Amino acid sequence: MSAQEANEIIEDQVRTLLAQMTLEEKVGQMTQIDFSVISVENGQDAENPIDPAKLENAIFNHHVGSILNTPTTPNNKAQPIQKWRHMTQTIRELAAKTRLKIPVIYGIDAIHGATYTQNSVLFPQAISMAATFNTELSFKTGEITAREVKASGLDWNFSPVMDIGRQPLWPRLWETYGEDVHLSSALGSAFIQGHQGDDFAQADKAPTCLKHYVGYSYPLNGKDRSPAWIGERALREYFLPSFAAGVKAGAPTVMINSAEVDGIPGHANYQYLTTILRGEMGFKGFTVSDWEDIIRLYTRDKMAASPRQAVKIAVMAGVDMSMVPFDFSFYDLLLDLAKTGEVPMSRIDEAVSRILRVKYQSGLFDRTEPALAVEGNFVTDEAVAVNRQAAREAIVLAKNDRQILPLSKQASILVTGPTANLLSVMNGGWTITWQGSKEELYPQDKLTLLKAIQQKTSGKVTYVGGKNFSDEINIEQAVNAARQHDVVVLALGEKPYTETEGNIESLNLDPLQLQLARAIFEIGKPVVLITFGGRPRIITEIADKAQAVVLGFLPGMEGGSAMADILFGDVNPSGKLPISYPRQTNDVVPYDHKPLEAYEGNQYRPLYPFAHGLSYTSFATNGLRLSTDQIELGESIDVTVNVKNTGARTGKEAVLVYLHDAAASVTRPVKQLKAFKKVELAPGQEQSLQFTLTPQDMSLIGIDMQRVVEAGEFKVMVGHETAEFKVVKH
Ligand code: BGC
Repeated sequence: MSAQEANEIIEDQVRTLLAQMTLEEKVGQMTQIDFSVISVENGQDAENPIDPAKLENAIFNHHVGSILNTPTTPNNKAQPIQKWRHMTQTIRELAAKTRLKIPVIYGIDAIHGATYTQNSVLFPQAISMAATFNTELSFKTGEITAREVKASGLDWNFSPVMDIGRQPLWPRLWETYGEDVHLSSALGSAFIQGHQGDDFAQADKAPTCLKHYVGYSYPLNGKDRSPAWIGERALREYFLPSFAAGVKAGAPTVMINSAEVDGIPGHANYQYLTTILRGEMGFKGFTVSDWEDIIRLYTRDKMAASPRQAVKIAVMAGVDMSMVPFDFSFYDLLLDLAKTGEVPMSRIDEAVSRILRVKYQSGLFDRTEPALAVEGNFVTDEAVAVNRQAAREAIVLAKNDRQILPLSKQASILVTGPTANLLSVMNGGWTITWQGSKEELYPQDKLTLLKAIQQKTSGKVTYVGGKNFSDEINIEQAVNAARQHDVVVLALGEKPYTETEGNIESLNLDPLQLQLARAIFEIGKPVVLITFGGRPRIITEIADKAQAVVLGFLPGMEGGSAMADILFGDVNPSGKLPISYPRQTNDVVPYDHKPLEAYEGNQYRPLYPFAHGLSYTSFATNGLRLSTDQIELGESIDVTVNVKNTGARTGKEAVLVYLHDAAASVTRPVKQLKAFKKVELAPGQEQSLQFTLTPQDMSLIGIDMQRVVEAGEFKVMVGHETAEFKVVKH
């Protein structure tokens, strides 16, 4: 059957079903509730957390279309896979007993693997996946995540985050693929393709959700859920393209920005949710609100005069499903609004059709049990190997003076610092629990950095540190121990967090960590500085004094092993920074800044620039050439460049192609990443790489807010070489 025929069948099914539905059933489809609404008390620890009477009330009396989350807010935590299968089966079976047998779609935040299924494979977080510059790995993590989600009996993943990360204070920076539009689009699209395949009705595939549309990631003050001020041109240039790429990659659902842009809350923004998302991007799926965000138009934003008006504003702006999530208020209010005609039936039918379409596309109507067996689909050897590979490629070697790394396996090492012996600091939020901070729930068989170092070496390894992140480290003891060892591995950074709980006032590193570092530097032993955490905390002073700096960000459950592999040279590092690493706390100039940001007194002078990352070998690019030096408007141009491993070890290198528009009617970034490829080369090996730059790559958002290509000169940059071409108009 062709894709078109399959679509027609689904459209037919949607129409037929919609025609049979009562208003109550329709409004119910638009309602999503949290697990706690159907849970017994303390459901997270109960053998069978579902309260049958509550579930019947949700499904029979309120016809809910969707349930989310793990048992049970606010103390929710990951559950054993068999329990998940049982819980989702109970819901599935009850939904099958309703008049029209419409399945419930169960949504979960599986943001770096099946977060809420115990012992699942938990990958590097998005910021670290971005550091791999490896779309194939992103694709594979998508495949594995979908498989583990489906083996858990779950249906729908609230991932990937397609917001771009250009505000380093924001406590969800690490949930993004970094500051660059092209990198985010490429990594996110690959993840979606892996997760959904060509047809997400297949047993091992599942629908994704682009979030959080749009502008959430750019709060002016850096705090979560606070206002962004993004002009239309910047929105179109920087913030919309990754979402457009996600839509193009086939994501059928979109979650909405919890905050506001330019004075309009995400959930009230008709222009974004309807005119642009549907009209311009051609999105055909459904939108889901973020947590409690419809009623917040009343309680928080004071935009609506009542909860009822909040529902009307949101639904009319284009919100199709409400993550209510704690009660049935949305259901009651929307029912009433529909009865009085304040929300027209046509709008309800539209939203419900979109939801039903995704349910059909996901194969939910045909499913009578969990889609996949656990055996062969959950924590397979292959999945663990992919995770290990991803973690290895995610780690960024930022500095390596006098080649202190790799360390000898016989070296005597002092390991110290608050991130040295915890798994949570390498995983971040959305790991086992929402905040990811319950170290005691982490799998015992995974290695912290300390344990991984101990396993690898035959030299003396001493640890001075606490059991928890906040335990004060005895500086005197650490300094004395440092004196007795060849080298100090100093592991600093952040504890796990997400959302508002992760808000900070400054990017500066915690003063206690600085104190520890300063005391250690004082005695003059070589120091390898390692950082873990979701944001680039300011390390300028200590990075300067350290012999080596390795930036771990959030490499996931295999992070400790991968870090040790790199420290001792079993793996050659290949990660590159997906953000510019600031030198000082207000130094937040992205690499693709405007000329003005690097003019006269201004400069782009981060501690480490975007795409920085060292290797134990060296690479050189040469022979940059273009297929022609002149093209016409609307044509593409090919770029060829050679990359060679000029060092003594096999290694991987991501080759990056940047473009600059020499003169334009609106100011252009000094350069923008347009293409990249990662290759593995043996010593002396050389490879020729081809890229194509399309009109889209050459375009800008012109004076009248339309995307256009302007005739003129362009510069292509790869490594140290540049090549020019002209776009002419005939
Ligand atoms: C977050 C979303 C998440 C949702 C459901 C919200 O608080 O902003 O990213 O998908 O909760 O857990």
